[in-house]
Amino acid sequence: MERKGIFITFEGCEGVGKSTHAKRLAALLSERGAIFTREPGGTPVAEKIREILISDSLDVSAETEAELFAVQRREHADNLIIPALNAGKTVICDRYIDSSIAYQGFARGIGVERVLLLNDYVVRNCMPDVTLFFDMLPAESFRRKKGSVIEHDRFESEKEDFHMACYRGFCEAARLFPERIVRIIPDADKDVTFERVLVALKQRGLI
Ligand code: TYD
Repeated sequence: MERKGIFITFEGCEGVGKSTHAKRLAALLSERGAIFTREPGGTPVAEKIREILISDSLDVSAETEAELFAVQRREHADNLIIPALNAGKTVICDRYIDSSIAYQGFARGIGVERVLLLNDYVVRNCMPDVTLFFDMLPAESFRRKKGSVIEHDRFESEKEDFHMACYRGFCEAARLFPERIVRIIPDADKDVTFERVLVALKQRGLI
């Protein structure tokens, strides 16, 4: 079936504010039927896989972790994203395949090629039209977040060098997919950042 809707993903390291802006964009575009979703998760089955993935008390190997992310993504794409796009909706997703490139490919070290292979189904059938990469170094987002409540899932409790490796992974994804990935430099003022999101989408004729 022909895809009629627009698929926008938000990516970046922990605490860069992408979720806030993804939700704000979905609210702004709600009249035209935009929906907000997230990964890991998005459907009841994928949310169950999320519980395994982020649990601090379960030990998962790098390869198993990468495969679980790929499985929850296929489930999410087949049951939510693709049907919504076919119905002409705008789908806004907080994290998607580039998080797998950054976290599993780079930080866990399984490699970008392996990630793309495991995600072959969505690579062929459900890639974003545009990806907004919130480009902020982990050290800077941790500094900005200081004093606020910090959750501790299995990824958030990783050390700073892990998050720095994720950052390098996002930069590599941006190098590999220059047509799709746009860098957004987050400003301390949220409205300024949101304006940058809107400008990037307008420049591509997507809104
Ligand atoms: P989430 O709680 O949504 O993180 P955030 O609030 O920072 O957006 O996601 C849980 C974690 O899953 C997050 O630390 C990043 C990680 N993750 C991967 O390692 N690979 C992936 O493919 C995805 C989608 C997320």
